[in-house]
Amino acid sequence: MDHQFQQFDQDPCLPGHPDPYSTYAALRERSPVHWCGGPQMWIILGHAEALEFMRDSRFSRHDYLDKLIARFGQNGHIYERQKLDIPYMDGKQHLNMRQHVIKAYHGIDLDSLAAFTRHFAADRLASIQGDQPFDLVALLANALPGMVASELMGVPTSQQLEVANKVSAFVRARGLIQTEQSASGGEDALEVYAHYFLPLIQERRGGDRQDLLSRLIADPTEGISLSDEQLLLIISSNFYSASVYTIRLLTGTIAWAMACHPETYQRIRNDRKLLAPAIEEVLRWDAPAQALNASVATENLVLAGQTIQAGDSITALVGSANRDPRVFDQPDTFLIDRSPNPHLSFAPGVHQCLGLHLARMQGVAVLSVLCDQFEHLHWDPAASRRLIGDRFRGFERLILHR
Ligand code: HEM
Repeated sequence: MDHQFQQFDQDPCLPGHPDPYSTYAALRERSPVHWCGGPQMWIILGHAEALEFMRDSRFSRHDYLDKLIARFGQNGHIYERQKLDIPYMDGKQHLNMRQHVIKAYHGIDLDSLAAFTRHFAADRLASIQGDQPFDLVALLANALPGMVASELMGVPTSQQLEVANKVSAFVRARGLIQTEQSASGGEDALEVYAHYFLPLIQERRGGDRQDLLSRLIADPTEGISLSDEQLLLIISSNFYSASVYTIRLLTGTIAWAMACHPETYQRIRNDRKLLAPAIEEVLRWDAPAQALNASVATENLVLAGQTIQAGDSITALVGSANRDPRVFDQPDTFLIDRSPNPHLSFAPGVHQCLGLHLARMQGVAVLSVLCDQFEHLHWDPAASRRLIGDRFRGFERLILHR
């Protein structure tokens, strides 16, 4: 266990580890808040403490970016630019931007997007014959979120795959562990977004269309008009890469959870009312985003008996909080009947996920298509591979068969 504690100290998300949860449990028992030497930040492991932290506005994302800018100097442009990005905004500016985005989202026709998602997933999976093994990530998970985001944003289908391949560099520039390489990779990725999205933005600026992108560009009733730079960040980071990364991982984890729990899978196949609670439990049991973006304390404060000094970096480890036995009975067991299921996978608080309805919709669509097309699901652990991906958890390759 000592070896795992050392690994945790270097990178608390234990990327790619088959079972980070036993380490989290042992650490959480000692204290719900720990200092980690690798990323030089406080890590919150307990549910109550994580929730308190998520709701507390005395933590600043801007100050965290300033620390990275000071650290990376010339290479830190990506962090300067991220100040315009919702997850890194603070205070009133953040609230206004969230409200603007939520309003723009209200016009989304979730039912027809769900039909589009089911149709796309069913089409992809229909190519599997008999008990032939297949990689769900390559076949479905890689493409699905990009297709749904493009349907939302009006990006031409022919460009989707290319954009999707570029987003991981941008996402890495939002990880807990930062290097010279992630700093400059994030900068390059933003150029890629400019290449694809600026023409779309310009086209929408002139028109009077009512699609999501047009609603994001301006809200005359609120006097809001966003710059190209702001729009690029919102589109690329918040709508595009947020879903391209997390939904991709959620897709694999859903199938894996079903393959590991065949009796539960049969219950869901026979009673589709269980689809939604099953997705909530997948989100709790193995959350795609294991930790939040980091923040900095703006004043001295005490959390779970630990003194956090003004200027200290801090984040919540959602993956650990979701297994806290003070909140969840049998926390390590996959139980779709949990009610309520107060998991923290969408970060309920100041930075709560804005795409949670879209995420839930896509999760339910994927599981319902799996139920339709696969009487049984088996996975091949030896041929599958977990992602080594900083804050994120899921499969890079997931080999399944009937
Ligand atoms: C399984 C899918 C998803 C999961 C698990 C997830 C999880 C999260 C989490 C944990 C946060 C908080 C981040 C932080 O505070 O640092 C967040 C924020 C956010 N998510 Fe998601 N997300 C998912 C899908 C999506 C989708 C599909 C979209 C949009 C299309 C989206 C848009 C956002 C935005 C805009 C924020 C920033 C909110 C803010 O800072 O105020 N997410 N998400």
